[in-house]
Amino acid sequence: MTGHVILPRIGTAAAWRDAARGFLSAGVPPEALRWSDGTGATGLFDTPAEVPAVTREIRVPRSFAGLAQTVVWHSDPARFDLLYRFLWRLRDRPALMQDRGDPGLAQLRRMEKAVRRCQHKMKAFVRFREMGDPSDARRSFAAWFEPTHHTVEPTADFFARRFADMDWRIVTPDVSAVFEGGALRFSVDLPRADLPEDASETLWITYFRNIFNPARLKVKAMTSEMPKKYWHNMPEAAAIPELIAGAPARAREMAEAAPTLPPLRMERVQEAAEAQAARHWEGPQEGFAAALSGCRRCPLHAGATHVVPGEGPSAARLMIVGEQPGDQEDLQGRPFVGPAGQLFDAVAQAAGVAREAVYLTNAVKHFKYVTRGKRRIHQRPTVGEVHHCRWWLEAEIARVRPRVVLALGATAALALTGDGKGVMARRGQIETGRHGGPVMISLHPSHVLRTPDAAAKAELRALLQQDLAAAWKIAEAALV
Ligand code: URA
Repeated sequence: MTGHVILPRIGTAAAWRDAARGFLSAGVPPEALRWSDGTGATGLFDTPAEVPAVTREIRVPRSFAGLAQTVVWHSDPARFDLLYRFLWRLRDRPALMQDRGDPGLAQLRRMEKAVRRCQHKMKAFVRFREMGDPSDARRSFAAWFEPTHHTVEPTADFFARRFADMDWRIVTPDVSAVFEGGALRFSVDLPRADLPEDASETLWITYFRNIFNPARLKVKAMTSEMPKKYWHNMPEAAAIPELIAGAPARAREMAEAAPTLPPLRMERVQEAAEAQAARHWEGPQEGFAAALSGCRRCPLHAGATHVVPGEGPSAARLMIVGEQPGDQEDLQGRPFVGPAGQLFDAVAQAAGVAREAVYLTNAVKHFKYVTRGKRRIHQRPTVGEVHHCRWWLEAEIARVRPRVVLALGATAALALTGDGKGVMARRGQIETGRHGGPVMISLHPSHVLRTPDAAAKAELRALLQQDLAAAWKIAEAALV
């Protein structure tokens, strides 16, 4: 007897889990079942299988539960069966999850990796176009995307968190995600909307041209990171063939014209970026956080959980600028709440500076990192990323109008003064910022944290404290 288990296309993961538990508890062997998600043809002699009620406790290793919840979204029609077969074997051998040599487990791990990669690509390559009127209270966007696996449902939460204040839909040939009025739902076979051309398209192309470095072109690495199958839904991809073809000549040109070309190109990108930002945010007082959360000036937004705006009194006398949010800041959406923030708080307290009295922000508003296993390792932002984010920092300065700005570390100093040279030789001194006001230079709390030698660490900490106290005193007395 073959029972045919037909799982729904929406909510597949929970449905597979419930069915697998029922069949396992009833002792139904894998050979007696055929699984599908209802998209394929049903065999003429198949009996639709009823899921038995769970009659005894089913214990599965947590690691398998996690693996299964990812693998179910793979596009291989055999995935449900492979999972159930493995689960069946796992009943008597829980240690199987640790057996790296087991071919069944290796296959599931490969599938898990493919699904995760597909989720990552989705986060990076979905391109929304505006569908409604940009002046609507709740703006509306749509994207067409063709994922390799069924990743819309497990990835939709990421977009819901990121674009919580907009309505949007990601339409795919399979399951589509619709987010309206803050509620997320899924729908099968939603028709592909006619996506209008969007002004941000020009910006993507301009931006991509700008970051494309012909001297560093590695076509293979590029097409592996941005597979060709995604290109036709990505506006900036239109520029790729031409850029690749012209790369050798442009690399030569760039080398010859190095001193004059980049600023010119930069200026154009900046103009386009500013025009784009002006569409998002009309004035310094209103909608700052909302506009910032929609920032697409550089690709760092793609990997971040939250954008991290500055916080503090809107008329603070002292503004303190760090480098970029770290892991904890990214998760919580607030600046200086992780280990560097804790050190900052302690040093500020010792310097007599109340955190609540200053405006705390960062030069770059999204966390830049690489993943190693489960860890996210901080990466220093590039000069270009600092440049793109400077618009927001300058907007914050224009809004708060602090008397003094304190730059913590070289990235903040670069963003504020245009000079990214080492801070140890500059610290404690006041320089003139691009905004025309005084900028005191100091070191970054992470620099103190990373210093292994206890005596050196204490010395750096004392310097930071000294600079904080001095900046506070100047801001209070407005001595400059
Ligand atoms: N480091 C920073 O520069 N800023 C933060 O917000 C946290 C760590």
